[in-house]
Amino acid sequence: MYKIFDTVDEVSRYTAQRLLKKVQEKPSAALGLATGSTMEPVYARLVQMLHRSSQDVSQLTMFNLDEYIGLSAQHTQSYCYYMYQHFYNRLRIPKDRVNLPDGMAEDIERACQAYSETIQARGGLEFQLLGIGSNGHIGFNEPQTSFSSRTHVVELSEQTRIDNGRFFTDQRQVPTHAITMGLQDILETQEIVLVATGRKKAGIIAELFHSSVDEALPASVLKQHKNVTFVLDREAAASLPH
Ligand code: F6R
Repeated sequence: MYKIFDTVDEVSRYTAQRLLKKVQEKPSAALGLATGSTMEPVYARLVQMLHRSSQDVSQLTMFNLDEYIGLSAQHTQSYCYYMYQHFYNRLRIPKDRVNLPDGMAEDIERACQAYSETIQARGGLEFQLLGIGSNGHIGFNEPQTSFSSRTHVVELSEQTRIDNGRFFTDQRQVPTHAITMGLQDILETQEIVLVATGRKKAGIIAELFHSSVDEALPASVLKQHKNVTFVLDREAAASLPH
């Protein structure tokens, strides 16, 4: 299903409402969460809505999609830092309810395996929030990632490193590798909402719309999922057929 709104604010409000509804229906839900510019206004809205509704969030479990390898939790560009800054601290989510891939783990392969196993042991996630990269990645699953992948180490594509360079003072500081939840982990989620806003996403959204299910375009795997909503603003939807 596609939902297209005029403004980023409307997109964020709708997406936050979908999350709020899930939390109200199931206060012990497991939520899969994304980072990035697109999600900042979504988390701002969601924090506001959760505060206003005095919703209990203490029983939720959070699983983040990805993390850079080599950045500590205190590094201001780590996804751990981002999540505490934009969401977890603002809701006082207890640390033991938060799962983030550990980009500093000594045994990264083991840490990846354990991450997927934890998700599976809990019976999968109820809700997954996704953004999309300009090359069609979801999480950090870059083009040609196997649809059957579990949490794994990925070498970031040049395109992704350039796109994400805007967050770093110097392009050379952008990590070359990351950990990401796999596409199979994402597909096993009950409900998925992918959000894309801004003109820069118009090309990949049109490609995704027209594409068949193909590992060259990781987000196309979502077309196999029964409950996925693509939430777009007018700019991101600009190249879709009327
Ligand atoms: C980050 C993530 C990525 C981003 C994507 C878009 O946790 O999962 O797939 O969602 O790179 O990033 P922005 O929103 O910054 O354009």
